[in-house]
Parts: sequence; C-alpha cells; structure tokens
Amino acid sequence: MSIKPLRKAVFPVGGLGTRFLPATKALPKEMLPVVDRPLIQYAVDEALEAGIEQMIFVTGRGKSAIEDHFDIAYELETTMANRGKSMELLHQTRLKPGAVAYVRQQEPMGLGHAVWCARDIVGDEPFAIFLADELMVGQPGCMKQMVEAYNKVGGNLVCGYEVPANETDRYGIISPGRQDGDLVEVTALVEKPKLGTAPSNLMIPGRYILQPEVMRVLETQEKGAGGEIQLTDAMAQMIGGQPFHAYKFGGRRFDCGDKAGYIQANIALALDRPEIGPAVRQFIDTL
Ligand code: UTP
Repeated sequence: MSIKPLRKAVFPVGGLGTRFLPATKALPKEMLPVVDRPLIQYAVDEALEAGIEQMIFVTGRGKSAIEDHFDIAYELETTMANRGKSMELLHQTRLKPGAVAYVRQQEPMGLGHAVWCARDIVGDEPFAIFLADELMVGQPGCMKQMVEAYNKVGGNLVCGYEVPANETDRYGIISPGRQDGDLVEVTALVEKPKLGTAPSNLMIPGRYILQPEVMRVLETQEKGAGGEIQLTDAMAQMIGGQPFHAYKFGGRRFDCGDKAGYIQANIALALDRPEIGPAVRQFIDTL
C-alpha cells in the first residue's frame, strides 16, 4: 500500500459562531485570542509543525480579519521598525507566498458543505481538516502525532478523544473495532447519539486526515442533523471501502466554541506561560 504524503490542510471558518454573540457579530470566532494569539493561529502553527505546506481557508462573510492576520501588515511593520521594536511576533503570522488559498462558503450549510467547497483546491490528495475552535495542546502537537500514525496505516484517520459518558450526545462518536496501542479501528460513526446509545465515549475533536474520495461522497450528501450537511455522515460512508482509524490523543483539549471551554483555555495556557503564569496563579488563589 502506498501512502500519499499529507501536504494540505482545510480550515473551515465559515460558521456563524452564534454561541459567542455579541463578541462574534463583527469578529470571526476563530480570531478570539487565547492569551495573545487568535485561535486560528494555534491551528495553523499545529499544521506547520506537522509538515503541512498548503493552508486552505473556507471562509464566509465577515471573515476578512483572518486573511489580514496572515498577511503583511505594512503600516504596523513600518511604524514598529521606525521605533526600533522587534517584529518577531508579527513575522510569525506571515504565511509563505502562494502557500495559502481562500475559498468562500456562500451559505453556512454545515461543516460537510464547508469542506466540499475546498474540493478543487484539495484535488486528488489526502488532506487534513482543522476546526480552529477546538484547541488541542500536546507535545508534539496533535496533528504531528496524527501524521506519524497516518504514515503507518494510511487511509482515513481521525483524532479520538475520551469524554465523560454524559457528554457523548454533543459530538460525533466513534464505534471502535480492533485496538493497537493508540490506534483504534473505526467500524462506524454516529453524529450526536442520544444519551445511553453511544457506541463508545470516544469523540472526534475537530482533527481529521481524509482521502479525497470523501469529496465525492459530500457531493451527493443529504442534509443530516440540524438541517446541515454533516461531515460525520460522509465519513461514515467511507468506512469499509478504505482503511479508517482513530488516533487516541492523550493531550489536552479545549472547546473554545463554548464560553466555559474558552475561559478554561485562557486560564490553562496563561498558567503555562512563565511571564504571566505566577501572577495569574496568585490571582486564582485569592478567589
Ligand atoms: P459549529 O458547530 O461550532 O458552528 O461549527 P458555528 O457556527 O461555528 O458556531 P455556533 O454553534 O453558532 O456558536 C463547527 C466548525 O465548522 C465550521 C465552523 O466555523 C467551526 O469551525 N462551519 C460550520 C463552517 O465552516 N461552515 C458551516 O456552515 C458550519
């Protein structure tokens, strides 16, 4: 079996972010900062660390701040240069010319539809998907760990993350087959199963490596849960035809699309920072 290398990543950022209104009325959810970096930058850095070369953003109306974030900020750079300030942090946000593409999802018809909008840029190659509102923290990063596993088994490989049994109705859940260390064979996928009916407590936290054939499945995909075109439904149809595994990620996960998860991410990552961690810890101890 020849395994095609993973070079491309799709970042669906066309969602409305209604759970974060009014903050997300004019600001894309993916630009919300955790400590001092927007969520989308954590995801892009995770992709770069995993050796991914081309970033494909599926955007919607009101998302231009994301394009600006990865562009050159001439005025800011000139002013900072004149004042002798270091521009290292600014330069970290530039993407290599030609290594970034934007495609517009005209209507937020669901995650599956957003991914399908990137089909022509993805072409006939495996690709990763990152949901930037899921912040995955690990050493090495989540996608780098997944790529190492993918290089062994090929096919489709999603991240798997254990959640408490009373939360399985919120997520896409994996039905597990044979297990080999951190690798689990996927025998079925269920989107938001009713409590008590989930086949496991292994959810998919917004990190995927998929084969391009999924685009053909999405092409004819009917609307699923919530009247949206669901990626989980399309992935489920790939099982059996191609290898399908989950890689159990043992690091930390923060659901930053949810207010409590977002605050937790800020606290946890602030505590990790030597320059502000002690002050934040001292404050927490006074509560
Ligand atoms: P969510 O389910 O979190 O939806 O989408 P949302 O619209 O972003 O946020 P809420 O629930 O209204 O607060 C999961 C991921 O899929 C993307 C989102 O940007 C997010 O990364 N998405 C969702 C799209 O790109 N397009 C869509 O039509 C729907």
